[in-house]
Amino acid sequence: LWTPDNIIEDSISAIQEQVGEGKVLLGLSGGVDSSVVAALLHRAIGDRLTCIFVDNGLLRLDEGDQVMATFARHMGVKVIRVDAEQRFLDALKGETDPEKKRKIIGNMFIDIFEEEAAKIKDVDFLAQGTIYPDVIESAGAKSGKAHVIKSHHNVGGLPDYMKLKLVEPLKELFKDEVREIGVKLGLPSEMVYRHPFPGPGLGVRILGEVKKEYADILRQADNIYIEELYNFKLYDEVSQAFAVFLPVRSVGVVGDARRYEYVITLRAVKTVDFMTAHIGHLPWEFLEKVSSRIINEVSGVSRVAYDISSKPPATIEWE
Ligand code: XMP
Repeated sequence: LWTPDNIIEDSISAIQEQVGEGKVLLGLSGGVDSSVVAALLHRAIGDRLTCIFVDNGLLRLDEGDQVMATFARHMGVKVIRVDAEQRFLDALKGETDPEKKRKIIGNMFIDIFEEEAAKIKDVDFLAQGTIYPDVIESAGAKSGKAHVIKSHHNVGGLPDYMKLKLVEPLKELFKDEVREIGVKLGLPSEMVYRHPFPGPGLGVRILGEVKKEYADILRQADNIYIEELYNFKLYDEVSQAFAVFLPVRSVGVVGDARRYEYVITLRAVKTVDFMTAHIGHLPWEFLEKVSSRIINEVSGVSRVAYDISSKPPATIEWE
C-alpha cells in the first residue's frame, strides 16, 4: 500500500541499500523536490549527506536564510551555503535577452556547483530531486536546477562529480506524493506547499538587465504580495503568484511631491499543468490593499498593475 509512511520507509531502505557506507552530494535549491530529497537522505544516512546551496542573489526575500534555518539549524543537515550574488550580478551585467540570461544563470550555477563539489573529498553519489513527471518529460525545454546539471554535460568531458552514481529517491513519485512525504519528514508546510519558483529566480522576473537595486525592490514588493495572499487566505486559491519588476518609470504624487519611479506588476494564475493557465480572480479589495502597501512601503515604486493575460498566448513568467 502506498501511504506516505510506507513510501518513506521503502525509500529509506532503498537509499541505505544503494549507498551503503558511501557519501552523497546534493544540490539544494530550497524548492520542494530537492528539499524532500535532503530530508529523506538525512533520515537515511545522516551526516554522510552534504548539501550545496548556491545563493544566486535572485531568491525571494530572506529565502537563503530560511533554507539554512530549516536544514542546517533545525534538522542538522550538513549544508554548504555559497554566497554567489556578486558573481551572478557580474555575469548578468548588460545582458537583456531572456534566453541568454537563463543560460548565464544556469551555467554560472553549474560552475559554482562544480567548484564546491571539487572541494569535497571521497564522495560516491550525487542525489537529485527528479520526480516521475521529469522522467516522462525529460525532453522538456525548460528545466530546473537539478535537470540543468544533467543536461549540461551530455556532451564532452564530464567533471569528476558527474562520474558519481545517481541517487534519485523521488523518481517514481508524483508531486502531491512528494509534498505529503515532505510534511511527514518534518519540513514546514509553507515550504512544501509553496508555489513553483523558476530556476533562474528573479532573473526572469526583472525584465531586461538584472541589477541589485531592481532585485531588492522586487523582493520587497513580492514579499508584500505573498504575505497578503496568506493573510487573506488566498495563497492556496491560486497555483502561482508573484510580482514582476518593470524597468520603466511612471509618474505619481505623494503629498505635494511628484514621484517618477518604477512599475511593479502582480501576476496570479490558476492552472493544473502549467502548460495552459487562466488568470487568478483575486478580489479587488485584496489587490487594492497590496497595491497601496507596495507603493507606500517600497521606495522606488510609483505604480502597481495587475496582469490579466491567459496562457496561451502569454507565458506565466514575463520572460
Ligand atoms: P511559463 O513562463 O513557461 O512557465 O508559462 C511555466 C512554469 O514553468 C516555470 N518556469 C521555469 N522553471 N526554469 C524553471 O525551473 C525556468 O527557466 C523556467 N521558466 C518558467 C514557471 O515559473 C511556471 O511555473
